[in-house]
Amino acid sequence: MNLLCSGRGGEKQTVLAATCLLRTADVSTERIITCNFVQRLSCEIGVIRVQSALYGRADRQTCSEGRPPQQLTNTKCSQQGTVDNLRTRCDGKRVCELNADVVRTSDPCPGTFKYLETNYTCFPANHLVVCEHSLAQLHCDEGQVIQVYGADYGRHDQTTCSYRRPVSEVQNADCSSPTSKVAESCNGKNSCTVQASNSVFGDPCVGTFKYLQVAYVCQYPG
Ligand SMILES: *[C@@H]1O[C@H](CO)[C@@H](O)[C@H](O)[C@H]1NC(C)=O
Repeated sequence: MNLLCSGRGGEKQTVLAATCLLRTADVSTERIITCNFVQRLSCEIGVIRVQSALYGRADRQTCSEGRPPQQLTNTKCSQQGTVDNLRTRCDGKRVCELNADVVRTSDPCPGTFKYLETNYTCFPANHLVVCEHSLAQLHCDEGQVIQVYGADYGRHDQTTCSYRRPVSEVQNADCSSPTSKVAESCNGKNSCTVQASNSVFGDPCVGTFKYLQVAYVCQYPG
């Protein structure tokens, strides 16, 4: 993937690069509203990038079916921190499933019937999945450098990296640990190798066989 934009380094570069990519790729925004959990975000091409999210209520119509009016009157209900929470969990992934327990960190408006509304785009990035103990190899074309967009060491479903694994090691599909370690060791390099192991990332769920997911883009150094 060629990127014609570049930033001045650090955080800024990520933001700039992202902006350029989005413009050139002309990606559309997906909008998902779920009245009852689970919410599933997915991208056929690229990776998830959460743009905005609301857990609460912003109008009377959404998710109003079968609900008494008093549960719909508060239309200024929004849980703080929802978008950051979703970004941490979903950005950089191909698929992201959100259940009530992880979204509902508080009750912003008791008595009001709340819903989860998420806007996201599919961001054109390279996506790697590497099973525990194996090596993730990130690589860019000559002259370009890696910019990691998201990385997570854990388990999010029962099928990925499940070959010849006992059920007990793959049944926990709610093991997430977003990590900045891949970015720390790979950003700015042309290629980079990281082992998907507890010795690198710690063990977020003992007894579960995990995998490392990484999303990254290649860009010309600024
Ligand atoms: C999602 O996008 C739509 C269309 O732009 C907008 O009306 C809505 O408010 C957005 N939702 C959130 C949670 O920001």
